[in-house]
Amino acid sequence: MRHRIDVMHGVNFDVLGSRKTGHYGGLSLTELEVKIKQFARGLEMEPSFSQTNHEGDFVERLHRAGESADGLILNPGAWTHYSWAIRDALEVAGLPAVEVHLSAVDEREEWRRTSVIRDLCIGCVQGKGPEGYREALELLKAQLQ
Ligand code: DQA
Repeated sequence: MRHRIDVMHGVNFDVLGSRKTGHYGGLSLTELEVKIKQFARGLEMEPSFSQTNHEGDFVERLHRAGESADGLILNPGAWTHYSWAIRDALEVAGLPAVEVHLSAVDEREEWRRTSVIRDLCIGCVQGKGPEGYREALELLKAQLQ
């Protein structure tokens, strides 16, 4: 069976292509998702995608995730660093999850070094750009097999 992976992008990812290229590489969200689809195809996994700028929508998608996904890749953007609501919702989801950041959050400003979801995730991949999503898919595949 192909593992179904919900790739959830949070706040400000709709404008990814306009964000600092030094941190985020200049790809649009659509271009990033094309790459993730290619990685997933190579691993025989089935990704689905969402992006929202509304925390409650992100929370509600997590509540429903178990109905349609076997695992999660989460890049909540800035919510990573303070959203206890997203952390609680991830517990409700009860699925294996990997935290991904395009940039190396642990080497940037002090406030980005806190993640309120990290200990609930099976791994965190950061600072590897789009390639980080391949690594996240591989981690999930190993976990789900
Ligand atoms: C990010 C890092 C966060 O600190 C930031 O707020 C983002 C993007 C990343 O992918 O590097 O929006 O999650």
